[in-house]
Amino acid sequence: MNRLFMTRQGFSTKTLRVASRRFGAVAGVKATSPSPPPVKPNKMNDMWNIDERSWQTATLSQMSGPSVWTGEELVHDKHWGIQLTEQERNDLVRAMREVLAEGNIEFSSNGIPENVNPDNFKLKGSTLMSKFDAWSENLENGNGVLMLDNFPIEGLSRVEIATAYLGLASYLGQWVPQSSAGLRSASRGFGLPLGEVRAEMKGMTPSGGKQANNYFRLHTDRCDVISLLGIRTAKAGGYTRICSVPKVYNVMLKRFPEYARSMFAPFPRIWEGSGGLADLPIWALCEGKFTTQFSPSYIENSQLLASARKLTQDEVEALDLVEEIGIETGHRFLQGPGQLYFLNNHQVYHGRSSWLFDEQHESKVEKETVAEPDGGEGRLLYRIWLSPYNSRKIPDTPLFRHLWGNVEAGVPRGGLEPALKSGLTEKPKELVRQVESGEHEYYGLYKRKFSEEAKYAMQ
Ligand SMILES: [Fe+2]
Repeated sequence: MNRLFMTRQGFSTKTLRVASRRFGAVAGVKATSPSPPPVKPNKMNDMWNIDERSWQTATLSQMSGPSVWTGEELVHDKHWGIQLTEQERNDLVRAMREVLAEGNIEFSSNGIPENVNPDNFKLKGSTLMSKFDAWSENLENGNGVLMLDNFPIEGLSRVEIATAYLGLASYLGQWVPQSSAGLRSASRGFGLPLGEVRAEMKGMTPSGGKQANNYFRLHTDRCDVISLLGIRTAKAGGYTRICSVPKVYNVMLKRFPEYARSMFAPFPRIWEGSGGLADLPIWALCEGKFTTQFSPSYIENSQLLASARKLTQDEVEALDLVEEIGIETGHRFLQGPGQLYFLNNHQVYHGRSSWLFDEQHESKVEKETVAEPDGGEGRLLYRIWLSPYNSRKIPDTPLFRHLWGNVEAGVPRGGLEPALKSGLTEKPKELVRQVESGEHEYYGLYKRKFSEEAKYAMQ
């Protein structure tokens, strides 16, 4: 077990120290109090708070404001495709070299720096310092998206890129250890500050701790903000999709209002915490702001467990509709080298298409996990999970407290810690057997097959 796990509340003393420092007075970072909630909808409207206690009777209405967008609108937004100046790129590289040269960096088991923060990743005097507040504001109270087009990676080593990436991210929030109900590997970033999204096998279903080149439907990661940095693209395929969740909600409410309502009910999903199962509404509102936790395969896999509530056909239809409407209204793009995005999981879904993976290179790829990023081939992204300093409050109910660990605004939460607190559970044998035997069709619960999106994993 990684040493990160070995102390109170799942975080190491070092991580807790870093967390408290970052969420307290940090040199160079404004101790921002949570931003005020959006104006619409207002408190007189049932759309102010909806959770598992009120979903059946709440009056549902269309949402408005910057969190509602289409892909076409997103690509014209100023927070999409931000160009760093040459000076800003140099500032990031200089700060990275300085902190590594100081010799005080502690490294995780996968060789990633753990304690890069605004105290030691020095950007004082850089024009970047004047941008972080607006970026944080847009992530939390705007469209929930931030995409930098030209983060410096050229000619840098894996540890240098990771240091610069974690350094920049530390000005927006606190990293939290990553988790996955299925894959507990260092390459995936399990319990670590940085994961690597890559294929280690071909197929629709990851197995044996290896990541596959498979299609991912629109989903959230289990943290406030997911960030991915493009290192390399695939020879073919590997597109990213993103969409506004309030937009999906609005469209579903218009077309199938009762399906939209059903998304506010608790849904079972597998997780790595106590019992291997947890319930949580897919959609909820807290003080007028949306929140969502959604991973279709986790819900689908829960249906293979005898102890899980069985979904109705209407609920399955509603889940399927998220993918359909998300594809219809969202944006699809190829994340190129140096493109870096941050997405607010409470209001933005992301997904990916399958990509061409040459299995002949598998042994090379295995070795590559400890090598330099420019020595390999194939799709590679680095990933950070972040709790922003200005994050929103989420519903104060037992289900939300259980899965998130903390529901207050502006605190580190989510990631692996809540599962660790409750006690890590191995993936149920019943589930592993059914998935690995092929008896279970990975996307069997849903009517659509998404064959175009999945084709490289199915060949
Ligand atoms: Fe994800």
